[in-house]
Amino acid sequence: MPGTTPHGKPWGGRFSGAPDPVAERFTASLAFDRRLWPYDLEGSRAWARALKGAGLLTAEELAQILRGLDEVGQELAAGTFPFRAELEDIHMNIERRLQDKVGPVGGKLHTGRSRNDQIALDERLYLRDVIGRIDRGVRDIQSALIRRAEEHLGVPMPGYTHLQRAQPVLLSHHLLAYVFMFQRDRERFRDCLGRVNVLPLGSGALAGTAFAIDRDALARDLGFDRASPNSLDAVSDRDFILEFLSAAAILGMHWSRLAADLTLWATAEFGFVEFSDAFATGSSLMPQKKNPDVAELVRGKCGRLYGNLLAVLTTMKGLPLAYNSDMQEDKEPLFDSVDALEAILGVLPPLLASLTFNVERLAEAAAAHYATATDLADYLVKKGLPFRQAHEVVGGVVRHAVETKRALEALPLEDLKGFSPLFAADVFEAISVEASLRARAVRGGTAPETVRRALAEAKALAAEGL
Ligand code: ARG
Repeated sequence: MPGTTPHGKPWGGRFSGAPDPVAERFTASLAFDRRLWPYDLEGSRAWARALKGAGLLTAEELAQILRGLDEVGQELAAGTFPFRAELEDIHMNIERRLQDKVGPVGGKLHTGRSRNDQIALDERLYLRDVIGRIDRGVRDIQSALIRRAEEHLGVPMPGYTHLQRAQPVLLSHHLLAYVFMFQRDRERFRDCLGRVNVLPLGSGALAGTAFAIDRDALARDLGFDRASPNSLDAVSDRDFILEFLSAAAILGMHWSRLAADLTLWATAEFGFVEFSDAFATGSSLMPQKKNPDVAELVRGKCGRLYGNLLAVLTTMKGLPLAYNSDMQEDKEPLFDSVDALEAILGVLPPLLASLTFNVERLAEAAAAHYATATDLADYLVKKGLPFRQAHEVVGGVVRHAVETKRALEALPLEDLKGFSPLFAADVFEAISVEASLRARAVRGGTAPETVRRALAEAKALAAEGL
C-alpha cells in the first residue's frame, strides 16, 4: 500500500529496522483508546469536510471518504472491526481500515492533521458526551433524594457535630443537604464543559496546519463554542481533563459522605435506616450479617477518583511544550474515573429509593441526650439574659440532669428556678423538639416551613438539565 512499509506503520518510510515487539506493546494505546472510536470518526468526518472546503478534496473524494468512514463505523458498532495491534492506536486503525475500504483516496484524510490535534479533539468530544450523561445521572440522584425527603417531611432526627448529638433537625433537611451539594457538583461539570468545548483540530502536530482550513467553520461543524487560539497550547493542554477529574473527585467525596452516613445509620447502634436486601449482601461466615456493601463501595471508589486526578496532575507536571508521549498516560485514569462515576450513577438512585427509614427511632433519638439544651438557653435569652450567661446557666442545668439521670423536660420547674428565676411554666413547650425545629425558620434552617420551601427550590434545580 502506498505510504506504508513492510512492517505496516504509516510512518514507516523513515525507518529501516522493524520495531521490537516488546517496545511495540509498550507504546500501544489501542487497548484503551479504542473506546474513543465514535469520536474519532466524528472528527474525521468533519476534517474531511474541512479539507473539501479548503479545496484539498473533490466532492467525489469527500463522498468516498464519508462512505468509507460509515462502513468503518458499522464494523466498529457491530464488533466486527479487525483491530490490528501493530497499528498502535485507534486513530491509525481507523485510517488504515478506511484505506482498505476506499483505496488510496483514504490516504488523503490525514492531510494537515496530526494525531496530536486528533487525540485532543477525540478527548474533548468524548468528555462533552460524558459530562452530559453525568449531569443527567446526578439529577437522578437528586430526584431520588428529593422524593425521600418529601415522603418524610416532618420527621425529626438528631443532627450531629463531632459525631455527637447536637440539635434536632428534620430528616428531609439532612437529605436535602446532599441535593444542594450535588447541585454544586453539576455546576462544576457544567463550568468544565465550557472549557472542554473548544476545537483543537487544525493545530497540526504543534505549529498549526499548513492548509487553508477554516477553523471557525470547523468549530461550528463540530458544535464547539470556538476554535483554540494557540496551536502549541491546543496540543499540549490537558487541563480540561484535570478539571474534569477534580470535579469527579469532589463529587466522589460527596458521595462518600452520603454513603458514610447511610452505613452509620444502618448499624445496630444507630438503627435509623435499613438497606433493602437487594442492596446489601450477607457474610460468608456470620449468618446474621447484612452488609451495606453497595454503599461501602460507593465510598471506596472515591479513592480511585482522587488517585486518577493525582496521576494525571503528576504526569503533566514539568512537561515541556508541546506534545509529549507522556500525555498518552492521561487516558486510563480518565476512563477509570468515568467508569467509576457511571457505575455509581447507575446504583445510587435505586439504592436510595429502596431505603427504609426507621421513623420512630429517628424521632425518639431526636429528643434524647439533651438535644434541646440550646433551646433552653435561647429561652433565657428571650427573657433578657445575655447568651453567655444563659449558656452557663444551662450548662449547670444539664449537669444536674445528668447527675439525677433525667431528661431536661423531666426536671421539675422548681429545680429549674433554682438555676434562674427567669424559668417559668412555658419553658417545657420551648424545649420540645417541635419548638426547637420551628424556631429555626431562618432561610436555610431546619424549620418545617423552611424545609418545605427548600424542597421546592431543590425540585426546581433538579428539573433543569444541561
Ligand atoms: N496515543 C496518543 C495519545 O494518547 C495519540 C497521539 C500520539 N501522537 C504521537 N505523535 N505519538 O496521546
